[in-house]
Amino acid sequence: MDELKLPVNTDKKELYKYLTEQVKFLTGNEKNMIANMANVSAAIRQTFGFLWVGFYLCENDNELVLGPFQGAIACTRIKFGHGVCGAAWKEQRSVIVADVDKFPGHIACNSASKSEIVIPLLKNNKVFAVLDIDSDKLNTFDDIDRAALENMMTVIIKN
Ligand code: SME
Repeated sequence: MDELKLPVNTDKKELYKYLTEQVKFLTGNEKNMIANMANVSAAIRQTFGFLWVGFYLCENDNELVLGPFQGAIACTRIKFGHGVCGAAWKEQRSVIVADVDKFPGHIACNSASKSEIVIPLLKNNKVFAVLDIDSDKLNTFDDIDRAALENMMTVIIKN
């Protein structure tokens, strides 16, 4: 597969459906998680045009280190429990932030970021990475994004 094929003028639920199908193919034959994370962050950004899409990887049970991403340069390390990413890791659940200025402890890697969603990736009930997506608009993410992205992450973890 050398190109994403997506319908035009459709709603995001439908876009996620098409995207997830292609992510299955894109990652299905590749065991290397870094390569898959790189392509998945590119595919999500290409589809929705979000400001920043990327992964942070858990290191030594106490911090996240920057992984594959698409967008501007970002913070390299985030401590456990810090920021939105650290909160999603600590609480082992997806976190949606409608307005980053109202989230206590939000880490601003980019001042253009206005809202954010973070999805934890778990293996054997343990978080090993998080997917972080930033938008330059307020209130971008809702339960449709959360459910679709959680599902997409189970697809790449299974591979
Ligand atoms: N805003 C994130 C930090 C990572 S950057 O947005 C890429 C946070 O608060 O955890």
